[in-house]
Amino acid sequence: MSAPKKHYSIGIFDSGVGGLTVVRALMERLPLESIVYFGDTARVPYGVKSVATIEQYAAQIVDFLLRRNVKMLIVACNTMAAVALKTISAHAKGVPIIDVIEAGARAAADGRGGRIGVIGTPTTINSNAYARRIHALDPGARVYSQACPLFVPLVEEGWLDHPVTRLAAQEYLRPVLAEDIDSLVLGCTHYPLLKPLLRDVAGERVRLIDSALTAAELAAARLQQTGLAAMDAEPASYRYIVTDIPLRFQTIGERFLGRSFGEIERADW
Ligand code: DGL
Repeated sequence: MSAPKKHYSIGIFDSGVGGLTVVRALMERLPLESIVYFGDTARVPYGVKSVATIEQYAAQIVDFLLRRNVKMLIVACNTMAAVALKTISAHAKGVPIIDVIEAGARAAADGRGGRIGVIGTPTTINSNAYARRIHALDPGARVYSQACPLFVPLVEEGWLDHPVTRLAAQEYLRPVLAEDIDSLVLGCTHYPLLKPLLRDVAGERVRLIDSALTAAELAAARLQQTGLAAMDAEPASYRYIVTDIPLRFQTIGERFLGRSFGEIERADW
C-alpha cells in the first residue's frame, strides 16, 4: 500500500455498536477528520469468545479497512485490543494504530503508584492486558480487576439507570471498592454510557477513566506527530459499515453516538 495521506479517513473498528463511543469522542476532539467505522454486528459479542477466534476476526477487519484507504487504525474494542493487538499490527502494513487499552492505561498510570480498578468483559479481564500495561507504565501501581459480563446486554437494552443495572454494578464493584481504589478504568466500549450510575455507586472520590476520551487524545497527538492531521479543505465525512442488517445498529447506535446517522452500509466482505 502507498503511504497514508492526510485526506484519508481514520478507520475505527469494534465488535459492534459500542465503538461509537470512541467515534463520538473523536468527532468532538477532531472535527476535521473523516471516519470509516466498522462494527462486526453479525458476530458480536466478542467479550466471551476465545483469543483465536477474536484474532481471526480482527485480522479480517483490518484487511477490509486497509482496502478502503485509511491513514490510522483505532481499535475501539477493548476485547480486541486486549488479545489481538499483535495480529492487528501484523496486518496493519505500517499504518499507525491507536488502541483503547494503551489510552486507558496511560490515563490511569499517573506515576504515583495509585490503586486502580479495571472493569471489562471476561476476555479483557482474563487477558490481564490492562494490568500488564499499567504496571509497565507505573510499576508501583496496584491493579484490581473485575469482569462485568452483564453490563454489555444491560447497556444495549437501554437500562442505563435501571434498578437491575444498579444492583449489578453494586455487586461487581464491591470487591474493587473494598480495595480502596482511587481510579476506575471503564475498560469496555459500553461502559461510558453507565458513567452517571457508576459515579453514584463508586462515589465522588473515585476517578472514572473513560478510554474513549483518552483514545481520541492519543489519536490527535499521533496525527500531529506523523504529519497526517487533516487540513481544513474539505468537510469531514462519516461512513458506517456493519456486518449484519443495519436495523439494530441504527436503533441502538444513536444512543452511543449522541446524534443520528446518515447511511449505514452492510459490509461486502
Ligand atoms: N466492544 C467490546 C469491548 O469493548 C464489548 C462488546 C463485546 O463483547 O463484543 O470489550
